[in-house]
Amino acid sequence: MTSHDLESVAQTLVAEGKGILAADETIPTLTRRFDTLGIQSTEQSRRTYREMLFTSPGAAEFIGGVIMYDETVRQKSSDGTPLAEVLTAQGILPGIKVDTGAKPLAGSPNETVTEGLDGLRDRLREYHGMGARFAKWRAVIHLTDALPSSGCVNANAHALARYASLCQEQELVPIVEPEVLMDGSHTIERCEEVTGVVLHAVFHALFEHGVALEEMLLKPYMVISGKKCTRQASVEEVATATLGCLRRHVPAAVPGVVFLSGGQHARLATAHLNAINRLASPKPWKVSFSYGRALQDPALEAGLAVRSSMTLPPPCSPLPEGAHASAIAAAMKQER
Ligand code: 13P
Repeated sequence: MTSHDLESVAQTLVAEGKGILAADETIPTLTRRFDTLGIQSTEQSRRTYREMLFTSPGAAEFIGGVIMYDETVRQKSSDGTPLAEVLTAQGILPGIKVDTGAKPLAGSPNETVTEGLDGLRDRLREYHGMGARFAKWRAVIHLTDALPSSGCVNANAHALARYASLCQEQELVPIVEPEVLMDGSHTIERCEEVTGVVLHAVFHALFEHGVALEEMLLKPYMVISGKKCTRQASVEEVATATLGCLRRHVPAAVPGVVFLSGGQHARLATAHLNAINRLASPKPWKVSFSYGRALQDPALEAGLAVRSSMTLPPPCSPLPEGAHASAIAAAMKQER
């Protein structure tokens, strides 16, 4: 694959009106979600759920790529087709989560550093052989009055850069995800300040490690008030602060910024994304979504009550009431 190919993969993922479905929850995380629905988490039930998401009618209209988990990329659909091929056949690019999780940072136990660099080159090669064309690595930054420490920011930026560089070497487009958590009581101003520091460190590390910015995507969180902050910023304030911060810290060579939903309600995440996209054009990069929970929660919530075909929400438009009718109950019934 040439660098031109990597650029075109990155562009395809954020083609007009499209975004990314993050369906890469680890087994413990997906098991917790199934538990709330009384669904037993087995290899089979997880496969059924993922297949249902991937074959959701109309998915390819809005979804340019899907991030899978290691278990999923090795699984086959009910008719025996590898799930990566199920996606490719619809024109959806298969992606893969390659970090092995955020672990306590030695010397600063309230912070984390994301691990997974050991043996990464070989794993990337294997995933590419299975059809993956892009990858994801999530760094987690805790925000308080005193945190993050510069040690934490730099350790995570360094790991993101080493991961991204290895991905490009192995012909995968890296999604670089520095998530500043929304837990806590911080103001939107504090979030903007810390997000700026984190993005600055990340792009500095990407430069030092020779990462081609044209061949990656950035997956940040929005600049937003902490969940427990007494003053919750309005949708317009979030959009203005987010876009301003990104403009100051994200080089124009990056083809796309794909936001995670970070535990926001699906409607609010979409309202924020719409508002960011409404702000002054042209933007230096495409702005879209790479939502996990905001795409899946409505389906999961509806799962036990509604039995009709599930559809994924269109990006950048308000979510219609009841649009996420789910076949989960039907699909999972046999698994219980
Ligand atoms: P959420 O949209 O649920 O935050 O998940 C996206 C993701 O990929 C987090 O790593």
